[in-house]
Amino acid sequence: MCGIIGYIGTKEALPILIKGLRRLEYRGYDSAGVAVQDKGVLQRVRAVGKIDNLAEKVKDHDIGGTVGIAHTRWATHGGVTEENAHPHVDCSGDLALVHNGIIENYRELKEKYLAKHIFQSQTDTEILAHLIEENYQGDLRSAVQSALALVQGTYGLVAMHRKEPNKIVAARLGSPLVIGVGDHEYFIASDTSPMLAYTQKVIFLDDGELAEISKEGFEIFTLRDQKISKPTEEITWNEAEAQTNGFPHFMLKEIFDQPTVIKDALRGRLILEDGSAKLGGLNMTVEEIQSIKRVILIACGTASYAALVGKNAFERLAGIPTTVEIASEFRYSDPIIDRHTLVFGISQSGETADTLAAIREAKRKGAYVRGIVNVIGSTIARETDGGTYIHAGPELAVASTKAYTNMIAVLLMYALEFGRSNRLAIATGERLVRALQEIPEKMKIVLEQSDTIKKMAEKFKKYDDFFFLGRGVNYPVALEGSLKLKEISYIHSEAYPGGEMKHGPIALLSKDFPVFALLTKNSLYDKMRSNIEEIKARGAPIILIATEGDAQALALTDNVIYVPTTMELLEPLINTIPLQLFAYHMAVLLGKDVDRPRNLAKSVTVE
Ligand code: F6R
Repeated sequence: MCGIIGYIGTKEALPILIKGLRRLEYRGYDSAGVAVQDKGVLQRVRAVGKIDNLAEKVKDHDIGGTVGIAHTRWATHGGVTEENAHPHVDCSGDLALVHNGIIENYRELKEKYLAKHIFQSQTDTEILAHLIEENYQGDLRSAVQSALALVQGTYGLVAMHRKEPNKIVAARLGSPLVIGVGDHEYFIASDTSPMLAYTQKVIFLDDGELAEISKEGFEIFTLRDQKISKPTEEITWNEAEAQTNGFPHFMLKEIFDQPTVIKDALRGRLILEDGSAKLGGLNMTVEEIQSIKRVILIACGTASYAALVGKNAFERLAGIPTTVEIASEFRYSDPIIDRHTLVFGISQSGETADTLAAIREAKRKGAYVRGIVNVIGSTIARETDGGTYIHAGPELAVASTKAYTNMIAVLLMYALEFGRSNRLAIATGERLVRALQEIPEKMKIVLEQSDTIKKMAEKFKKYDDFFFLGRGVNYPVALEGSLKLKEISYIHSEAYPGGEMKHGPIALLSKDFPVFALLTKNSLYDKMRSNIEEIKARGAPIILIATEGDAQALALTDNVIYVPTTMELLEPLINTIPLQLFAYHMAVLLGKDVDRPRNLAKSVTVE
């Protein structure tokens, strides 16, 4: 959702801020703005729509200066207008600030200060500018601290003041901020992506912390002004990974990244001779592992479909009853959790508000809580007592692809580790390890069929509705394929377990309602085949994902995409890729904005 970048240093701030905003585009936004100060003048420019609009508009202003802040806004309070775009200023125009999060008591506060201050927007954020103005007596840090004591809600806040030109003040509560340490320059941003071109040295602010940054350095305080020291961390992601590398879209690049990044997820974690895996971040003794009677996987969207694959693996390999909980439901339920329960919060961004709230609830109730996360230093990674990075690298297309397969890889390794600590035979463990090691090459075989899948999309682009069907391990694959299609091509699609069709959905079938079915050679092959026969009998067009060499698939339809065979539990790692490609090509053919689909945000930081 919203994104922040601030700069203070020796270079011209404006180009760094505009480039930074472009790096934040992936989060989803509908307007953007920038404020830069120089020689006692603070200039602000804002524009609705793409960063290009803002970049055009700033050309009409002569903006110099080495200190500035910028923002991409995803509207929550107040429509998509220039007045509502950040940065917001106080009545004097001396103070400018950008804000992520929601100020819940802004209405009461606005009411109180309405007579005294000039409000120019409908946002919840603007009240912060006026509260800081009320408390400003020549020291921005202290004014921010006083203002924040009055608000309820969440914030990642970055402010600067014309009267203190060598200073940026940033504060965090519930919305991430990270300081980047460069060479005589500092960055402050909502995530590391806009600073990767300049530095990999970062300090993550925690909730309740405030940073005062100047060209000479920075200091960190609590909101009550206690000085604290924090370590600088080195992040492994770099700018090159955050480029499209010649692919027309981030999404296609990220689909093609999968054979490489899954190796990063597996590296150093598989132990062939023990037929097992070892994930260092679990932080549990063998006794603790053996004491676990229940696993709960908490996630949203695509991550929850990866979790469904994980459920299968935990139950089959480790024999531990496992449930998948949608975070937004779990957080308001009354879950039965005890000290024999292990909860994994699974999230690419590590910032999803619902997942975060759900794992906090699980923690309160005494479960072991671990994270399975992609973004390094993200809130879920920091709030869990251990866990594992999935090492998918920056995922910048809104629709998740490589994070999904890497989440599955990590879940499979956890299930293997738990299985081997409980009942799983070494021979089965060894087979699984070998099969996992073969996955990257098999993924490449599927990727080579991208052009064939594109032709398939061309043939099917006229349809308005799709079913995706799978059984057993392929049901989560069907769910993910259906989600990908609707997210980026806006085509209506639904996913069902194959056996469920006859209980209702089959009524919808006609020659205008194609069915995408997963018919790979696994233990449910014959059952799934019968389900597809039922569909064929009703005249619906069929596309099949089938196992290489399965000639029978062609008896059901001409539209077959063949995939390499693997162990049944690992099939989602392979079988999902053609569905990702199908959704991608379909969206491109229909002229949709593949990387930034309408209404969606990459990091869903509101409830
Ligand atoms: C789908 C998609 C979303 C996310 C969901 C959870 O392509 O990207 O469904 O999977 O919003 O996000 P994370 O994994 O960041 O918690």
